[in-house]
Amino acid sequence: MNQTICICGAGTMGSGIAQVAAMGGYRTLLYDVDPGMVQKGRAGIEKSLQTLAEKKKLEGEDPPAIMSRLSFVNDLSECLADIIIEAIVEKPEVKLDLFHRLAAINSAQTILASNTSSLSITALAEKIPYPARVAGMHFFNPAPLMKLVEVVNTKYTDEATTRILTETVRRMGKTPVLCKDAPGFIVNHVARPYYLEALKLAEEGIGDFETIDTLMEASGFKMGPFRLMDLIGNDVNYAVSCSVYEAMGRPERLRPSPIQEQRVQKGELGRKSGKGYYSYETEQS
Ligand code: NAI
Repeated sequence: MNQTICICGAGTMGSGIAQVAAMGGYRTLLYDVDPGMVQKGRAGIEKSLQTLAEKKKLEGEDPPAIMSRLSFVNDLSECLADIIIEAIVEKPEVKLDLFHRLAAINSAQTILASNTSSLSITALAEKIPYPARVAGMHFFNPAPLMKLVEVVNTKYTDEATTRILTETVRRMGKTPVLCKDAPGFIVNHVARPYYLEALKLAEEGIGDFETIDTLMEASGFKMGPFRLMDLIGNDVNYAVSCSVYEAMGRPERLRPSPIQEQRVQKGELGRKSGKGYYSYETEQS
């Protein structure tokens, strides 16, 4: 296959998406403004592929063959591809600026997809030349393991874009779910109260983080809300809470929690920073 996919942002999500793109047979570029993140992304992918190889889950290919399809870049001018998936910071103005710069150097046919958890794809699309090729492509964390991907259409997205993204998701070994552009799409809309109600219980002193997590896990949830927020990243989760709250017209039930805000201000972002609701010192490289 000679299609190229470029992933912008080599953090928690971008590096996982780059891995599954390369595993799907695509020539894959992983770009970040921060060279340290690109190196961290490469190391994370190597480690993850090694683990999959040891578990015999790579379906005939070895890690070096998959790595040979990946390039790691720090220069935006190298981000030339058939499909670009941005997984950078959850800030609309930064994403819009990136899409503008990518649109200026790529062809009008290049699909511009966003992995945003909650921002309006429509608002992004309508400010970009050729909005028919803009869509959401929302992976779940950790991207190499989670099967579902929300493919988010706006009123501008054309059929070809939807078809290509749906095929791409399948080629990456994942299951596409088509949905319309709406605050938080489907999963982050439904999941918001899970986090916010748990934060309210903690705010009111009804239970501590560990107790709430333990009970939710015992009642059948795979991860308690605080462990899950630490996995997602508290900065990302807080940004999603704020954007869904604003987009829904500020309903009281979706008001973001001061606990989340304080964690972000203190830099306690969860696993990626070594501390969140819990400590992860040993995971820091
Ligand atoms: P992260 O904080 O782990 O990584 C973001 C990366 O983007 C950083 O490496 C940063 O250096 C880079 N970056 C920032 N501005 C940039 C720019 N202008 N150009 C290139 N790189 C830039 O964030 P994470 O968690 O990977 O989230 C990324 C996106 O994916 C967000 O939109 C988030 O809402 C979404 N998302 C996050 C999920 C999660 O569980 N963390 C799940 C699904 C979607």
